[in-house]
Order: sequence, then C-alpha cells, then structure tokens
Amino acid sequence: MKKKFYITTPIYYVNDKPHIGHAYTTIAADALARFHKLQGEEVFFLTGTDEHGLKIQKSAEEAGEDPQKFVDEISAEFRDLWEKLGIQYNHFIRTTNPSHKKAVQKVLRTLYEKKAIYKGEYEGLYCVACEQFRQENELVDGRCPDHDIVLEKVKEECYLLKMADIQSELVKRIENREPASLAGGFRIEPERYKREVLSFLKNEKLKDISISRKNVKWGIPLPFDKEHTTYVWADAFLNYLTGLEWDGDANFFQSPTFPLPRWNRGNSSKSDFSNLSFWPPDIQLIGKDILRVHATIWPIMLMHLGIPLPKMLYVHGHILSRGRKMSKTLGNAIFIDEMLEKFGVDGTRYLLMSAGTFGEDVDMTMERMVEKYNADLANGLGNLVSRVVKLVGNLQLAISNSDLIQNSKFKIQNYLTDLEINQALEYIWGIIREDDKFIEENKPWELAKKDEKKFQEVMKKLVSDLRLIADLLVPFMPNTSEKIKKALEEKKVEILFPRIKHYTETRN
Ligand code: MSP
Repeated sequence: MKKKFYITTPIYYVNDKPHIGHAYTTIAADALARFHKLQGEEVFFLTGTDEHGLKIQKSAEEAGEDPQKFVDEISAEFRDLWEKLGIQYNHFIRTTNPSHKKAVQKVLRTLYEKKAIYKGEYEGLYCVACEQFRQENELVDGRCPDHDIVLEKVKEECYLLKMADIQSELVKRIENREPASLAGGFRIEPERYKREVLSFLKNEKLKDISISRKNVKWGIPLPFDKEHTTYVWADAFLNYLTGLEWDGDANFFQSPTFPLPRWNRGNSSKSDFSNLSFWPPDIQLIGKDILRVHATIWPIMLMHLGIPLPKMLYVHGHILSRGRKMSKTLGNAIFIDEMLEKFGVDGTRYLLMSAGTFGEDVDMTMERMVEKYNADLANGLGNLVSRVVKLVGNLQLAISNSDLIQNSKFKIQNYLTDLEINQALEYIWGIIREDDKFIEENKPWELAKKDEKKFQEVMKKLVSDLRLIADLLVPFMPNTSEKIKKALEEKKVEILFPRIKHYTETRN
C-alpha cells in the first residue's frame, strides 16, 4: 500500500481578493504536494475558502451585495488564481457548502451532548479582522497587535467551549513528538513556535471560548439554539475534516484501539471511508498570525470529539515589504497579478519560494524581485539552458547516471522533508552557478573546433546536469522543467525568461 500524505493550507477569508500572502502558502503547499507525489506517495492536498463571519458579512454589506453572491464571486477569484499559478489541489473546500454546514451542525450537537459546550456569557474585546477576542495584555495602545484597529467591546449571551480541562493533555501531546501518528502527538514546527505555544500554555490557564455569536447573521445556525450562529473559527477548522468528505459523525473515529483510527486496524476496506483514510494531516501549513488558535481551539475541539490530532502544524512567516506589513494605504503592496504578468507562472513561484527562510518573515520589494528575476532566471537558469542547447547542436550523447544525480536527489529530499523550501532552491541554483563556471573554464565552443573527445565529455556533463536540474525543478517550476526537457530532446530552445529591462512603479 502506498504511503499516504495529507497536506492542508488555511482556508482563506473571502472578504477581499486573494493576495501574495495567500499565494505564498498555497504555492508552498503545492510544491510539497508535488514533491511527495514524486516520491510515490498517495497525496491529498486541500485548500479552500472561509466564507462566514462578521468580517465577511460587513464586507458584503459595504459592497451592497447579498452575502452568498459576494462570497461566490470572491471564492471563484481564489480558484482562478490557483489555476493560473498551477496549483494542483485535490479538493477546494468552501464553508458555505451545504455538506460542510451539515457536518458542522452535527459536530456542535455532539459537543453539546458531551457537555463540552455549555451556555453562558462572554465579555471581551473583539477584533473583527482577526475574528477573535483578544486579551487586554496583548493589545498595543488599545489596538489589535496584528491589525492596528481599535477593538469592540462585546458582551453577550453565548455558548462556550470548555478549554482548560484539556489543557494539560494538550501540553503532553505537543511535547510528545515521536512517533507522532501513534501516540497522537501534535508537532509544532519550527521549534521556536512550539516553545512559544508551550510557554503560553504553561503560564496561562486557557479561558473557555465563545463558539457562538448572537448578533452575527452570516454563519451556520447552532442546531440547538437557532438564535445563535457558529463562531467562524469553529466552523472553519472543521474544513480540514469536511474537505475529506467527513459528515460530522465523530463515532467514525472511535475505536477500541484509540488513537489508532479504524482503517489502521487492518480490517476494513478502502471503500468504507473514502478520503477520510488520509486523516490525520501530515502537514498543516499556517501563518504565524493564526498559530495560537490552531494550537489551542483546534486540537481541543478534536480531543473533545476523540479524533486523532494532526501530526504537524508548520508555521511560516509573513511577507513584508520594506520592513512593514503590506497595505494599500502604505503603498508598499505587491500585487500577485502584476507578478504573474511580469515574471510568468514559474517566475512568480520561484520568486516567492526563494524569497527567504520559510519559517521566518521575508521582506520583498518589486525592485528586488526584478533584480532577482534577471539574475537567477534570465541570466542564470534561462541563459544556461539556451547556451547548452545551442552548443550541443546535433551531437548525439549517451548520458549515464552520475553520483551527482543520486546525491542531489537525496539532498532535495532532505530539505523538503524539513520544509526547507528555499534551501532546496538554493541548492539547485548552486548547480546552475557551477555549470556556468564550468562552461567559462572549458570554453566548449573552442573545444568543438579542436578536441572532439573533450568537447563530447564537457557536453555530456552539461546535458546530464540540465536534465538533473529539470528533474529537481518539477515541484517548484513544473512548466520550466517540461520546457527544459523538451529543449534537450528537440535541440532547440525558446527564451525561457526574457530579461526585464527596468522596473517602473506602475501602481500605488
Ligand atoms: N480564514 C482564516 C484561516 C482559517 S483556517 C481554519 C484566515 N484567513 S486569511 O485569509 O486571513 O489568512 C490565511 C493565511 O494567509 C494565514 O496563514 C496568513 O498567515 C496568511 N497570510 C496573510 N497575509 C500574509 C502575508 N503577508 N505573508 C504570508 N502569509 C500571510 O486567517
């Protein structure tokens, strides 16, 4: 049986158009999914849109549109963008899907019956942009630290989810790393984010959280009290399960050998559970701003329900521009459609994935990207491909497997297993730079005239390296990889990455 690999992105809010932050996570997930497929694994890659809640309700009102129509339009923009970026997801989940809504209601009823949810009252400072209550001690000058907006004081009757009584169990799961899938461990990577979560969980007793809203219409009604709608995060988290066609029945996961789910006991056939056999996720990619909710509310909901926890949360940093969060008002925003227009699909994928260490914040400006595009793609990869293809001419070469090939594949495998995406790319560009040097040193155009044997040797290495580069690039730049292979076969080449002369700011 093939090893299964399940990867998720957060589901994106549809209050506004998709932007490069969204593209960043989704391209990373796509590259990882493609890589695991190449390793022979059976992969399920889930992404989608988060469509309920006050923020979206307000945006729809401002646009003067019916909320369903509003979310339909923006969700479609996400799918269009993923298509342009070559994202090969297995399923695109929308939280306004009737089947998702039904499953959420079933879960809430179960939690209510188990007394994990009870009726009460909540008072706090609500940030609409986060769709979260924030604690007094998190604020900066009374404002949300992530969104810089003044928070609304909310006091209302609501239903609360018990958090604190599972807290110590959660700490154990986070600390217990190996073997994650068997012990129900819950890894948080990179390490410093795990430390951050643990120190918070050890120092503060979690408050029970409100999982319903009385004054938000745009949400899933609570099945046991129609005056309330479901808190958008509780609704959203369940996408990771409903995206695998789960119907909300928690009994599905119960087994006498818990935490081993039913299908791992070896006595059921695949058709019993379809995509749910991918559960639990191997990697859940999230940005650092949504770590805390993913490391508390989400696993606690699962633990109340008796569902195995995800194996790993992987936290990535934010894309900043000139040291600041991108925003239209600051005029430092980078637009994904502008990137696509300038750099093409693979250029955009490359520039985003190579922008910096995946777990850390990365700073990008359009000027620097143009420079990097010219250096690494036009002059680097593109130029190497065109030189080699031209030099090889009609030469017939028998290429054999080299140590470099085995070694490089192993290296990339190691990097990607650790989600060191940019290091993987740097490694490939190391090969490109060495080949450039190799060409300069050996001057094959001169050898062609005076030393046929040496010329053939030199060309053998170069062609073999180019094939290797094309193979290694598959997860990151699938179209370019194809083009390189085709160019080597047909012995002719188009310009892969036309040089960009200069960059002029076109928008503010
Ligand atoms: N809907 C919630 C997630 C629910 S998952 C059950 C949400 N949506 S979001 O659209 O606001 O953000 C989705 C993801 O995009 C987050 O992981 C966030 O970190 C990421 N990014 C948003 N802006 C970003 C950058 N500028 N840079 C990198 N990623 C950023 O939160």
